[in-house]
Amino acid sequence: MAIEKTFSIIKPNSTLDNNIGNIKSIFEKNDLRIAAAKFTKLSREKAEGFYIEHKERPFFGELVDFMTSGPVMLMCLEGENAVMKNREIMGATNPAEAAEGTIRKLYAKSIGENAVHGSDSEASAQRELAYFFEKNELVDRF
Ligand code: CMP
Repeated sequence: MAIEKTFSIIKPNSTLDNNIGNIKSIFEKNDLRIAAAKFTKLSREKAEGFYIEHKERPFFGELVDFMTSGPVMLMCLEGENAVMKNREIMGATNPAEAAEGTIRKLYAKSIGENAVHGSDSEASAQRELAYFFEKNELVDRF
């Protein structure tokens, strides 16, 4: 199976609850390798641009408020089937529907404060990675 890259955000509720290490260790146990990482606080402009596809949704303002409320860990994860594997590990967007053992079941507080973001397709992964990382910041395994 091909090695893929995907994009992940450890969201403010997780960084403030001291769960960065716990979440990273779930990635690592599932053979997702960290190929790039930035610890930062998003500006409103950057968060709005990232979630532009949700601009007309009623929760957009709340989503941007939350994503700019504290630090985030932006990551490129690399591994076999990384996009879909990461989605499985994260669990459903709404933690009430997330399977046992998933990151969102363990660490999400609500559908808004849902612990992590992960790309939903390879095309999204490429777009999202390019939105936050320069090409030379992605460290290739080979
Ligand atoms: P994420 O994977 O980062 O992509 C879009 C985000 O919008 C999603 O996770 C949720 O955190 C958020 N979201 C989706 N639906 C709702 C909702 N009904 N209310 C608040 N936030 C939502």
